[in-house]
Amino acid sequence: MGMPISKAGDMSLGHAFSPSPITPSISKVMHQGPVHVATDVIAVHVLGNSAHGGTILQVSTTVMAENKGVARLMDTGDCGAMISGSGAQILVGG
Ligand SMILES: [Fe+2]
Repeated sequence: MGMPISKAGDMSLGHAFSPSPITPSISKVMHQGPVHVATDVIAVHVLGNSAHGGTILQVSTTVMAENKGVARLMDTGDCGAMISGSGAQILVGG
Protein backbone atom coordinates (compact mmCIF):
# COMPACT_ATOMS: atom_id res chain seq x y z
CA MET A 1 0.00 0.00 0.00
CA GLY A 2 1.59 3.22 -1.13
CA MET A 3 1.28 6.74 0.17
CA PRO A 4 1.21 10.02 -1.80
CA ILE A 5 4.64 11.52 -2.30
CA SER A 6 5.71 14.76 -0.66
CA LYS A 7 6.89 17.33 -3.18
CA ALA A 8 8.00 20.93 -3.46
CA GLY A 9 5.47 23.19 -1.77
CA ASP A 10 4.19 20.53 0.61
CA MET A 11 4.79 21.75 4.14
CA SER A 12 5.97 20.14 7.33
CA LEU A 13 2.93 20.12 9.58
CA GLY A 14 5.20 20.23 12.62
CA HIS A 15 3.80 18.86 15.86
CA ALA A 16 0.03 18.97 15.98
CA PHE A 17 0.04 22.19 13.95
CA SER A 18 2.99 24.49 13.34
CA PRO A 19 3.52 24.37 9.58
CA SER A 20 6.85 25.28 8.03
CA PRO A 21 8.35 25.01 4.56
CA ILE A 22 10.65 22.23 3.36
CA THR A 23 13.56 22.95 1.01
CA PRO A 24 13.93 20.35 -1.74
CA SER A 25 17.53 19.16 -2.18
CA ILE A 26 17.21 17.26 -5.45
CA SER A 27 16.18 18.37 -8.89
CA LYS A 28 16.24 15.37 -11.22
CA VAL A 29 13.13 13.59 -9.94
CA MET A 30 10.11 15.80 -10.40
CA HIS A 31 6.38 15.73 -9.89
CA GLN A 32 5.09 19.28 -10.46
CA GLY A 33 8.46 20.25 -8.95
CA PRO A 34 11.15 18.36 -7.06
CA VAL A 35 10.03 15.55 -4.78
CA HIS A 36 11.08 15.65 -1.13
CA VAL A 37 13.69 13.14 0.05
CA ALA A 38 15.57 12.18 3.20
CA THR A 39 17.70 15.00 4.69
CA ASP A 40 15.67 17.80 3.08
CA VAL A 41 15.65 20.75 5.47
CA ILE A 42 12.51 21.56 7.48
CA ALA A 43 12.33 25.24 8.42
CA VAL A 44 12.02 26.40 12.03
CA HIS A 45 8.73 25.53 13.70
CA VAL A 46 7.37 25.34 17.23
CA LEU A 47 6.78 22.59 19.76
CA GLY A 48 5.62 24.04 23.08
CA ASN A 49 8.20 26.74 23.82
CA SER A 50 10.86 25.10 21.63
CA ALA A 51 11.49 26.66 18.22
CA HIS A 52 13.69 24.42 16.12
CA GLY A 53 14.40 23.25 12.59
CA GLY A 54 14.89 19.71 11.39
CA THR A 55 15.49 17.41 8.46
CA ILE A 56 13.36 14.71 6.88
CA LEU A 57 14.31 11.37 8.46
CA GLN A 58 11.64 8.70 8.07
CA VAL A 59 11.09 7.96 4.36
CA SER A 60 10.57 5.05 2.01
CA THR A 61 13.36 2.49 2.31
CA THR A 62 12.63 0.98 -1.09
CA VAL A 63 11.91 3.89 -3.44
CA MET A 64 14.87 6.22 -4.05
CA ALA A 65 15.33 9.50 -5.87
CA GLU A 66 18.96 10.50 -6.48
CA ASN A 67 19.96 7.80 -3.97
CA LYS A 68 17.81 9.17 -1.16
CA GLY A 69 14.56 7.70 0.13
CA VAL A 70 11.43 9.44 -1.15
CA ALA A 71 9.31 11.23 1.46
CA ARG A 72 5.59 10.53 1.65
CA LEU A 73 2.52 11.87 3.36
CA MET A 74 2.80 11.17 7.11
CA ASP A 75 6.56 10.52 7.04
CA THR A 76 8.43 12.40 9.76
CA GLY A 77 11.44 14.57 10.43
CA ASP A 78 14.24 13.92 12.89
CA CYS A 79 12.32 15.94 15.50
CA GLY A 80 9.09 14.05 14.88
CA ALA A 81 7.50 16.71 12.70
CA MET A 82 4.93 15.27 10.28
CA ILE A 83 5.39 15.78 6.55
CA SER A 84 2.49 16.58 4.23
CA GLY A 85 2.22 15.03 0.78
CA SER A 86 -0.09 16.13 -1.99
CA GLY A 87 1.38 14.06 -4.82
CA ALA A 88 -1.47 11.58 -4.80
CA GLN A 89 -0.96 10.60 -8.44
CA ILE A 90 2.27 8.88 -7.36
CA LEU A 91 2.09 6.33 -4.56
CA VAL A 92 5.29 5.12 -2.92
CA GLY A 93 5.56 2.09 -0.64
CA GLY A 94 7.51 1.63 2.57
FE1 LIG B 1 9.96 19.66 15.16
